[in-house]
Amino acid sequence: MSAREPANQPALRVGIIGCGAIAGNHVLAYRAQPQVEVVACLDADAERAEAFAAEHGIGTATTDLENFFAHDVDVVSVCTPHPTHEQLVLAAAAHGVHVLCEKPLAVDVPSAERMVAACREAGVRLGAVFQRRWWPAAQRIREALDDGTLGTPILGRVEVLLHRDTAYYTATPWRGTWATDGGGVLMTQAIHYLDLLQWYLGDVDLVMAAADTYRHGEHIEVEDTLVATLRFTNGAMGQLVASTALTPGLGLRVAVTGSTGATVGLLEYPEGTEAVNDVWAVPGAAALAPPVALLPDADLPSINAALAPFHTLQIAEFVTAVREGREPGVTGEDALRSLRTLAAVYAAVRSGRPERPDATGPDAIEHEGPGTGGAPR
Ligand SMILES: NC(=O)c1ccc[n+]([C@@H]2O[C@H](COP(=O)([O-])OP(=O)(O)OC[C@H]3O[C@@H](n4cnc5c(N)ncnc54)[C@H](O)[C@@H]3O)[C@@H](O)[C@H]2O)c1
Repeated sequence: MSAREPANQPALRVGIIGCGAIAGNHVLAYRAQPQVEVVACLDADAERAEAFAAEHGIGTATTDLENFFAHDVDVVSVCTPHPTHEQLVLAAAAHGVHVLCEKPLAVDVPSAERMVAACREAGVRLGAVFQRRWWPAAQRIREALDDGTLGTPILGRVEVLLHRDTAYYTATPWRGTWATDGGGVLMTQAIHYLDLLQWYLGDVDLVMAAADTYRHGEHIEVEDTLVATLRFTNGAMGQLVASTALTPGLGLRVAVTGSTGATVGLLEYPEGTEAVNDVWAVPGAAALAPPVALLPDADLPSINAALAPFHTLQIAEFVTAVREGREPGVTGEDALRSLRTLAAVYAAVRSGRPERPDATGPDAIEHEGPGTGGAPR
């Protein structure tokens, strides 16, 4: 036990499952917490597990789940490709271990429902990583709703305008197919902002959507561009525009307008860096719109590194929730809610008709293309 650990509180023992690009953010985040030890890591690829353990000074590297759980872990982070999340979260629940799962929670709604149910029945906490909720700017939007500045929300807007090169899809074998990635820009990138939008505006009642693959069609079967119109149960409307086909990328924005007429929004630019409130158009308050110079597109390691402080904030909150025996700030149910909306969006792309999240049924995300509608290539 280190000097900063009070003798009356045992250290929390953490394991990392999946030793790829994002797992390092988790290790850094846990290490920043008092009384937390990262004791084991697991990867399907033995060399990756061993290299990761060596890089981060983790005592046990394994490919075997039973061996992994035999190291008395209290908490695991699941950092593997999306379709593998369910099996690993269910294993954690079966071993009575709290689990923080990377986004998206799963690639279909029934899978996410099983994960939520298994953790609830096992009495373990299930958290989902949506670290952008910890941007100070994202929290100021939430506060503007809570303190009445915005009144009742009436309009939400999301833009996810990103650059991805061909190597992004070809260098990582699981990206870009319906079976292994579960979707395209909506499933992998825009889901962060769908989570924010639902944090602000609540449940979605109706969606209309279109999607296509304009830029990366030679390499992927999922969409690289998607537009969705959302109607919320509280009567608000929303629009989500998302693409990885831009060069250069133009960043990520979310803005909420309320019944007072005020608008509060944020800009994340370059991708991954701390968002700022770029719109604060509140009667009586200054409008803030810092000019932004166009920058070169960041590579994936730089984006992941920029996200690290916010993984640390979310993981600090998750660790506290586990210690206090309460639900974490972003629960499995929260992640299930945005996944239900996402499923309805893909259903609307396929059907060409409006769809309702609650009516899309258990097979809402079919692992097939959304239909291209003859758009230009
Ligand atoms: N929150 C964020 O901002 C953020 C950023 C990047 C990635 N992610 C998410 O994190 C997850 C991982 O992404 P990544 O970019 O680190 O992927 P990656 O491909 O770099 O790493 C995944 C690792 O998991 C291992 N793996 C695959 N299947 C496994 C299994 N069944 N059991 C154990 N190990 C297995 C692979 O060998 C690989 O080392 C994805 O769900 C992704 O969406 C989230």
